[in-house]
Amino acid sequence: MENKSENHFQHNNKIELLDGRILADTINHKLRRIIVEENLQPTLAVVLVGDDPASHLYVNLKKKACEKIGIEVSTYFLDKQCTQAEVEETIQWLNNDETCDAILVQLPLPKHINTDKIINLIQPDKDADGFHPDNLKKMYSNQATVFPAPAHAVVRLIKSSDYFRSGLTTAVISNNDIFFQPIKHLLQPYNIITTYYSPDDIELINKESKSADIIVVAVGQPNFINQNHIQKDAIVIDVGTNRQDNKTIGDVDFDNVKNIAGSITPVPGGVGPMTIACLLENVVNLHKQKS
Ligand code: GUN
Repeated sequence: MENKSENHFQHNNKIELLDGRILADTINHKLRRIIVEENLQPTLAVVLVGDDPASHLYVNLKKKACEKIGIEVSTYFLDKQCTQAEVEETIQWLNNDETCDAILVQLPLPKHINTDKIINLIQPDKDADGFHPDNLKKMYSNQATVFPAPAHAVVRLIKSSDYFRSGLTTAVISNNDIFFQPIKHLLQPYNIITTYYSPDDIELINKESKSADIIVVAVGQPNFINQNHIQKDAIVIDVGTNRQDNKTIGDVDFDNVKNIAGSITPVPGGVGPMTIACLLENVVNLHKQKS
């Protein structure tokens, strides 16, 4: 039987797999040590609205990762038909709960809920995801306590690549530029110019993406990126998680780009576990800031 991973190394022994699980383990072990040595008891409240199976899966993964390192998790399940006021009341209640260090609202929320209003309501010193505008502002002025977890994960994976050096260029292809701004900021100290592309600008992407040294793609479409979009030895960060034929796959056609890319994140096992590690780090930092 064909062994895919062996095959992959036979065809190109140069491609570097950016293993998010290994990188996340290093961060998680460090956090576990801090919790034990300093006798900390950090707590995280997770708010999950509705019955989206992917969201339930992600919340379970986050809960397991927290418990493994000694963060206590309470999950608050709300019905998919709950009102804006009910979600807001839950957040207010958690804001006032002194035993709760950090709050995470799993996204996406149902369409009838105003997501920005909910994120803005989380007390910034309890903002586990680092999405609150006050925390983003602090990050942009280099005074961050918490970092937006997905962007932080992406940048750490980029920096772990053998192909990473200052002066490169990055293309971020994503459905919204909220994700792009923090990546751009975190790469700026390395003299890296980051450009945003909407997945709708397909002609522009076809024309420009090949000149980027680093490509970050978060569009939620299988095989959105192939070998025609990337340059030789590019660093490819695949944020997509799509279900196809009972498998989880990213936005990049992995087999198609593997002989061209310099480094690539696998899906699963790339950005996902790193995002969770960055979340855990935020929770520990919020707890330490409080005590
Ligand atoms: N849904 C997908 N990614 C994330 C994330 O990083 N945080 C939250 N809260 N929801 C998500």
